Amino acid sequence: MTSQLFYSYTVAAFVVLASALILRRRQAPNGQQPATKPHLLASVPTEQLPKYIQNLLAEIPGCVILQADVAAFQQAVDYSWAQQNREIIPACIVRPRDTQQLSKAVAILKWEHDSRSQTGAPITGFFAIRSGGVNPGLGAATVQDGVVIDLSLFCEVTPAVDGSTVTVGTGAKWIDVYKVLDEKGLIVMGGRNSPVGVGGLTLQGGISFYSPRFGFVCSNALSYEVVLANGSVVTASASVHPELWRVLKGGSNNFGIVTNFTLRSLPFAPLWVGEMVAPAAFQHAKALKAYHDYLDHASSSQPGAFDENAAGPILSFVYIQRIGLQLISLHLVYTKAPEDKKWPVHWKETGFTSLWSFYRSSKVQSHTSAVERLGRTAPAGTRHMQGTTTIRNDAQTMTAAYAIFCQTTTELRHVKGLLFPFTFQAILPGWMNKGYPNVLGLEGCTEPLIIIGFSVTWAKAKDDELIRSTIRHTLEQINAAAAARQSDHPYRFMNYCMEWQRPYEGCGEENLKLMREASQKYDPDGLFQSGRAGGFKLDIVSR
Ligand SMILES: Cc1cc2nc3c(=O)[nH]c(=O)nc-3n(C[C@H](O)[C@H](O)[C@H](O)COP(=O)(O)OP(=O)(O)OC[C@H]3O[C@@H](n4cnc5c(N)ncnc54)[C@H](O)[C@@H]3O)c2cc1C
Ligand SMILES: *[C@@H]1O[C@H](CO)[C@@H](O)[C@H](O)[C@H]1NC(C)=O
Ligand SMILES: *[C@@H]1O[C@H](CO)[C@@H](O)[C@H](O)[C@H]1NC(C)=O
Repeated sequence: MTSQLFYSYTVAAFVVLASALILRRRQAPNGQQPATKPHLLASVPTEQLPKYIQNLLAEIPGCVILQADVAAFQQAVDYSWAQQNREIIPACIVRPRDTQQLSKAVAILKWEHDSRSQTGAPITGFFAIRSGGVNPGLGAATVQDGVVIDLSLFCEVTPAVDGSTVTVGTGAKWIDVYKVLDEKGLIVMGGRNSPVGVGGLTLQGGISFYSPRFGFVCSNALSYEVVLANGSVVTASASVHPELWRVLKGGSNNFGIVTNFTLRSLPFAPLWVGEMVAPAAFQHAKALKAYHDYLDHASSSQPGAFDENAAGPILSFVYIQRIGLQLISLHLVYTKAPEDKKWPVHWKETGFTSLWSFYRSSKVQSHTSAVERLGRTAPAGTRHMQGTTTIRNDAQTMTAAYAIFCQTTTELRHVKGLLFPFTFQAILPGWMNKGYPNVLGLEGCTEPLIIIGFSVTWAKAKDDELIRSTIRHTLEQINAAAAARQSDHPYRFMNYCMEWQRPYEGCGEENLKLMREASQKYDPDGLFQSGRAGGFKLDIVSR
């Protein structure tokens, strides 16, 4: 019986891996994307380009990649991680090498913005800001026919002499940051998955394996270097521009373009990582109960119940269309590795251990290899969508949300290549307000919250709209089920938000006020409100 199931799991894992490889080959054949649209401006002579693009070419020569430079342009477009964002074709991509060049570029965008507003016509976003380019939100960091500010060359990693902090360029990928720091015997808290970029993750909030110890990633930024709307370069920290420093902790791309972050670092130590894969068919209720009971316990006042070394748990129900099966996957981390590889007592005492699983592993490894391992589940160049909502730790709401997810997978069962994880992650009161104050809006929260996340991969462009509308509807259904039991919560984890979501509505009036005031002060003409495309706006009406 066991060996038979193990066999079918192996087959399933093989099928998933094989399909991931097939998808990857089909969609990312060394830069010759079949799906991208024809180059709109390929034949446009330079003097016929819009004036501001000509100015960019003149002011920062060598930094502007035009469509006419086919190979370089294609490569720069394909820097976006999700395939549907590679199909959005900007007029040009600007890749500054240093802060001065970026500052010149912003000044030109500001000039364009101001001349557009003088005509009185409503301004739609004409430039986007891109760091790692991983956010799968449609157009999160790119813009059709506009300018993409590509920050990938801002990727330096500079540890402080005393090893307590490290300055990281916004365009670095977390995995590269970790590799540099490994050599110095340091760790910095950041993304848990290789392709993710520093900028987007840190500005939107960010959850790390070290969050139970130190809080959200944004709350561990000591300072920022920022290019403001008028092109001036400032440092924001607790002592200089403290109001800007505060709102950058969750306020994303509303105030300026960040070039680098100074983050807390810590001495290298290995992690314990536990993984489990189980059949969902007869285990889902048990898994949900284990999750609920764990959060109940970890947020109780019992001594030792909250353990700052216990990261996660990440519980996913994964529907795999190719084999028509749903699996449960559980990911646990303990940041203080036990002497042996055995399960740490903290995790051993949870209901998760009694789940019947096909596969169970328990490893002690470096932070870098834990992140690389998760990176293998996230190949670049697939059609991918994320979406999120937040609920309180209510058992019936969790069960209802799970049932809604199952109904959705039934509706989408004919979508080719569908890989559909439905994930629970926890934000515990023991850590949600650790670190420097942010604008996420969790100050008054004293109960555990569950971030529900969707992370959908599929094969064909023709299914984009179906997936988008179905995920939206599914999130709305979950919200309604939660509201009916008063277990809904306004907070939204911006890092996973879909493009139509409104994460700032969940920040609370006080934080919104701080953000609006900072916007008035640092961007009085609203460059980042009306000129910038991608991400989320503060919706300041009085301008
Ligand atoms: C496979 C995968 C794994 C993930 N794992 C995690 C995880 O472990 N923890 C977590 O918290 N999140 C995680 N996320 C979510 C991730 O944090 C977001 O997608 C994040 O936006 C990615 O950052 P980026 O720099 O790559 O994004 P980009 O796509 O480059 O940018 C995202 C947004 O931030 C803005 N932005 C980026 N840089 C700047 C800047 N310097 N100045 C101003 N605005 C800027 C952009 O304009 C854009 O709107 C994951 C996502 C994926 C797809
Ligand atoms: C990053 O930070 C350092 C130190 O604060 C600063 O000197 C440097 O100019 C910044 N910019 C870049 C692009 O590294
Ligand atoms: C740029 O904007 C900042 C913030 O509004 C302001 O303090 C600074 O004086 C401005 N600089 C110039 C050169 O206008």
